[in-house]
Amino acid sequence: MSKIIVGNWKMNPSTLEEAKNIISKTFEVKSKNVSVVIAPPAVFLIPLMQFFKRKKILFGAQNTNYLKEGAHTGEISVSMLRKAGVQYVIAGHSERRAQGESDADVSLKVASILKEKMIPILCIGEKEHDSAGAYLEILQNQLLNSLSGVPTSSFKSIIIAYEPIWAIGKEEKDAMNSRMLHETSIFIRKILNDKFGKLAKGVKIIYGGAVSEDNAYDLVHDGEVDGLLVGHHSLKPTDFKKIIMEVGK
Ligand code: PGA
Repeated sequence: MSKIIVGNWKMNPSTLEEAKNIISKTFEVKSKNVSVVIAPPAVFLIPLMQFFKRKKILFGAQNTNYLKEGAHTGEISVSMLRKAGVQYVIAGHSERRAQGESDADVSLKVASILKEKMIPILCIGEKEHDSAGAYLEILQNQLLNSLSGVPTSSFKSIIIAYEPIWAIGKEEKDAMNSRMLHETSIFIRKILNDKFGKLAKGVKIIYGGAVSEDNAYDLVHDGEVDGLLVGHHSLKPTDFKKIIMEVGK
């Protein structure tokens, strides 16, 4: 399976010019086996897609609303994104869950993203990593509840981003180590297999949380995941380029 890297820019950078600059520099490199998706702030999404039209760069939205239309100030629907040509949508990022988004909301989002034939990047992750393994139960509940309303027929295009909250935004030394990641990715894969059987085979599991150019190789290859979700290092073209090359090795 080819690998996927998602650059989650969160509420950065501050101007469209900066955003163009980061993308131009990042895509000086290409790795055959790696797809790279950029998820910029919503206000830059469409101008960036238009500007880089010929480069065939993949773009994603950081959030969406599962409702179709109506009086929902500040919200953007899934079909608006699809009609604008967006292919990927992040759902249930921990920073959104911290603002009150529940598993039930996330499940509705994932279902509506799939219904529009787009690819959801479903984020799950525990707040604390306890040695007794209680975090595994938290993960299992979060995963199954976030998928509860999702039709299994469209299941294979889902990307699960496992992002332990304790690692997000930290320095690379605070990322999960590749051995622990391997164990957790096997656990996630097992939950999917037990619940959805063969349908879960094509689901990609990626890792996010303090990914840098120095730990990207180990996380992907030793952690045996299908890719990475990169936050702050995806805004630094020199680092992001190295991450892309390391993942593609
Ligand atoms: P980080 O963010 O790479 O800055 O830790 C990852 C994320 O929150 O998606």
